[in-house]
Formats: sequence, structure tokens, C-alpha cells
Amino acid sequence: MCGIVGYVGHRQVLPLLMEGLRRLEYRGYDSAGVAVIQGGRLAVVKKQGKVRELDAALPVAGLSGSVGVAHTRWATHGEPSDANAHPHTDAGDRIGVVHNGIIENAAELRARLVADGVVFRSQTDTEVLAHLIAARPENSLVDAVRAALRQVKGAYGLAVVDAARPEAIVAARNGGPVVIGVGEGEMFVASDAVALLGHAKTVVHLDDGELAEVRADGFSVATLEGAETRKIPQALEGEASGFDRGDFAHFMKKEIAEQPEALRRTLLGRLDHRFSTAHLGGIELAAREMLDIRRVKILGCGSAYYSGVLGAHLIETLARIPAHAEPASEFRYRNPVIEQDTLYVAVSQSGETFDTLAAIQEVKRKGGRVMGVINAVGSTIARECGRGVYLHAGPEVAVVSTKTWTCTATAFALLALQLGRVRDLSAAQGARLLAGLSALPDQIAEIIAREAELAPLAARLAGSQHAYFIGRSAGFAVAMEGALKLKEISYLHAEAYAASELKHGPLALITSQTPVLAVLPDDDLLAKNLSTIAEVRTRQGPVLAITHPGVYAPDVEAAFAVPRSEPELDPILLNIPLQLLAYQVAQGLGREIDQPRNLAKSVTVE
Ligand code: AGP
Repeated sequence: MCGIVGYVGHRQVLPLLMEGLRRLEYRGYDSAGVAVIQGGRLAVVKKQGKVRELDAALPVAGLSGSVGVAHTRWATHGEPSDANAHPHTDAGDRIGVVHNGIIENAAELRARLVADGVVFRSQTDTEVLAHLIAARPENSLVDAVRAALRQVKGAYGLAVVDAARPEAIVAARNGGPVVIGVGEGEMFVASDAVALLGHAKTVVHLDDGELAEVRADGFSVATLEGAETRKIPQALEGEASGFDRGDFAHFMKKEIAEQPEALRRTLLGRLDHRFSTAHLGGIELAAREMLDIRRVKILGCGSAYYSGVLGAHLIETLARIPAHAEPASEFRYRNPVIEQDTLYVAVSQSGETFDTLAAIQEVKRKGGRVMGVINAVGSTIARECGRGVYLHAGPEVAVVSTKTWTCTATAFALLALQLGRVRDLSAAQGARLLAGLSALPDQIAEIIAREAELAPLAARLAGSQHAYFIGRSAGFAVAMEGALKLKEISYLHAEAYAASELKHGPLALITSQTPVLAVLPDDDLLAKNLSTIAEVRTRQGPVLAITHPGVYAPDVEAAFAVPRSEPELDPILLNIPLQLLAYQVAQGLGREIDQPRNLAKSVTVE
């Protein structure tokens, strides 16, 4: 989704802005642009397409100056085009604005400005801001931006430069993340701290309703009402190397390969062998509070939701607490009942997904208690929750989630174990699960090393337009995640269905052209799953399976067997081949794997 980067300091700004834009590419976008204050005027270059196309459109001599802002745009108001790309400027090309979010009253403000004689050069809501700010009489840029924002309704993270007042960038936040990077004699602004890795050692996150005046020698933050707020810079975690593909053809492949290491980090220091339990200090729940939990509600979107479906299953199985996952995007709109004795868990890789943020704000507003399962340290959702579990999976650059799904599912296993051990789960059961958890990284490495064995399954899927992914119980969570992966990057229609439900409708669609991929663990539901497979074969449906060694399934055309774990943890391993399968199919079809069409890494708008 849209990305912002800005710089004010002593260095040439253009290379820094372009580097920042490249770091933000992973979020998904359709156009990019830069604005640099050059010799007292604003030089703007913007282009539909990728950052490399913006690079090619820059003047040969570049743009010279030490203050500027840049943007990657994911179209909301107005089609992707050069004109609609950010930065947007006022008529005098003095004010430059880059903006993430949506100005809800843009049409009304635009009509008013047009009536005053303003000529618009784009279809965007953002351009309204540039004209509003330019028209303000206030002496300082920060006061002009504050006054303009008082007229605006909607969500924004933004950065503004003024060629006539080049000493500062003004940044503001209301719903869209903004982070200030602190350097020596230089300062950065970005919508995502990854743009600052390698440049800033500490960062400051703006909160909703705050504006910052960012100068080379420091910054000040105040609310929209003008009250100063005190901010303490925090260490910026992460390595710039996470954004280097190395020898991998795609970030997705790299991130699949990183799973054993990522998972070791998720587990590190959290396995308590003495008491045969897990220890998640960040959830800040004493044993007595854990005993008081009567229900667990997990909220997330897309893959985060599917990992939550598995998480709910784990919590209910191991801790015997009723648990349920729901898409955060639905939950927030249905006036949900919030219960005092329910533990609400927000799941998000990026920590910036708007729907998930809105859902937990609704829970908190109604007095519910929320914890997060988050990858991005210091992200908006992490800060909103205030407590929870960090995955420590490292940066995930590909739009599709792979390693963070695995780490999230494992974090839920840890949570379920910890909740279970304060209840009825025995020490022996706890020790069994700890052994299973410890073995997961090596088992995942073994699956990844056998990737070539998936080729027959990939060939069958790549030759079809439609496929079903089926599974029962926790296997259904795996089927949903597997189908989503295939859809996202291969653009094939893959539909997940509970295996038990197939005969209640979709069986009508099964033909020799509709492969069915079965998640087929060797568990106590194996016989039921084999019956469903037989029903598919009777209708000539080709069946593929992700299963366990030794499972006899004569109706299955091609299968991949994962190593056995503890039954509760099997779904984590069963999912790994589905990631590789989606990758192989998409690669075979020549798709753009890391940045699939129409998708963004973090969905920061409604
Ligand atoms: C996963 O492959 C997807 N790209 C998507 O469903 C994603 O999981 C969802 O948008 C939630 O993102 P989050 O984890 O950053 O909140």
C-alpha cells in the first residue's frame, strides 16, 4: 500500500529518497514520485509504474537539494497515472504533499476550492490538501498544515514540504502510520520504519492526531489542537539485509527458506522445560488472570485470520477454553458483544492492517482486554494492544505471508500450552508438546529440502482453472491458508472447503477438470477424510494430498508426505508444502510472485 519517505539534513536527498522508495516497494504500489526543494523551488518527478520507471524519468543530472519527500502510491481515488501519482502540489508548485489514507470529505473541499478558482491537476483526494495548505496565511508551515487539517475528515499519514520554508518537513498522522527517524544533523520521515533501516538508529512513532515539525537538528510534536507532546525515541530494530534477496529469485522463496531460523527466534527463551510449559512474558497475564479467561476471540485478516483459526483450535484443544477466530474486517462492522472475561487476540504481521486496528479499537472502547500477536515491532497495532507476543520472524517483504504464518501458528501453540498448563494440561502433555515444538525448525528444513517432490502436484494444479482445498478441523485452517496462497500469486481459482461440507453442495462442481487438494494427516479423522476423497474420485475429480508417511490412500493421484510432529502441531508442518506448491505453480505460470496484481503488503485503508 502507499509509502512515504522524507528527509531533511545535510546530504543530497535524492539517493536517500530513492533508496527509501525501493525499500517500500514490497508494500505494493502502482506509481511513485519525488519532490526535492532545489534552489528555492520544488522540483517534482512522478511516474506511473515501478520505482525503476521513476528512476528512468529523473533528469540525467538528478535533483539537487537536501530536503524532500517521496511516495509510492496504491490507487484509491483516481486511476494509476502520472498525474495522480504523489507528491501533489499547489498551483504555485510551492507546497508538496505525500499522503497515505483517504480524505473522506475531499469532494466537498474540492468543490469549494474549484469555486474559488483553483484548477486541479489530478483526480486525487490528496491534491486538496496541497491547495488548502498553500492558501493558509499562518507564518509557519506546521501551523498552516494544522489549520488545513482541521478542515479535513478522514484517515491520513502525510508529509509536507514548502519550497518557501525549506527548513522543515511537517508530518501528521490520523490513522496512517508515520515514524520519524532520528539521525545526526539529519532527520527522516517515513510511513514504515523499514525505509529508515541503516540510516536512523532511533525512531519516534506519531500517534493519531499528532503533527511533527521535523528539522535537520531535531523535531517537535504537538496535537492537532496545538498541545505539545513529549516523545521518547526508541531503538530501531531490524537489519537492512532483510531487504536483500541474496541469491533467491524471489523474496517469497527466501522467506520460505528462512522459516527454520525464524521459528527458532519465535521459540527462543519461551520454552520452560522445568515446568513443562511455555513462557510468554509479553502477554502480562498472571496465572490467576489466565484462570479467569472464559473465552478467547482471535481477530485478524487474510492469512493472519487463518493462523487465528488454527490458534483457536489449539487453545480449545490444549487449554479447554472456548476459542473462536473471526475476520477483523467483519467483526468491526457488526456491533459485537464484548465480554469482560474474554481474551481478545489481534493477529497481524505488519501491525498496520486498518481493519484489525479498527476491530481492536472497538474492543477497547467497549472495555475489552486485547493482546497482540505481531511481527512488526513498534507497529500501530502492537502499540495499541500494549501487550502480547512478538514473532521475531524478521522482515517479510513478499506480499504473501509465509514465515509469519508459521511463526504465528507456533506462537498460538505456545499461548495454548501456557494457558493449558495453568488449567488441566498435565506436565507430561506439556513436555510432549515442548519436544514437538523444539523439533519443528529441523522438520521444516527437511520439507523445504524435498521441494522437488512437489512437482507432480504443481503440474496438476497449474493445468487447471479451478481447484478445491479441503481439510477437516485444524486441517481446514491449513486448507484455507493453502488456497489463499495459490490464489494470491498464481491467480488460479482455489477454494477452501471443510471436507465435511463438500457433499452439502460443492460436490456438484467436481469433474475431471477440478483437482481437489486434501490436507490428509494421519489422525483420528483419517477415515472420514478418505471417505470424502472416495466421493471426489467417484465424480472423476483428481485428488492430490499433503499427508503423512505410511498413509494408504489409493484414490490419491499424487501426494507429499511431511514428517510427523505431535498431532496438535501437525498443521504447522502440513502448511509448508502448500507454500512451496503455490510458489511452483506461480513460477511455472510466469506470475509476478513478490508483488501480485492488485495486492498490497499491508492494507492500511478500509
Ligand atoms: C497473506 O498472504 C496476505 N497477503 C494477506 O491476507 C495478509 O495476511 C492480510 O492482509 C493481513 O495482513 P497483516 O498480517 O499484516 O495484518
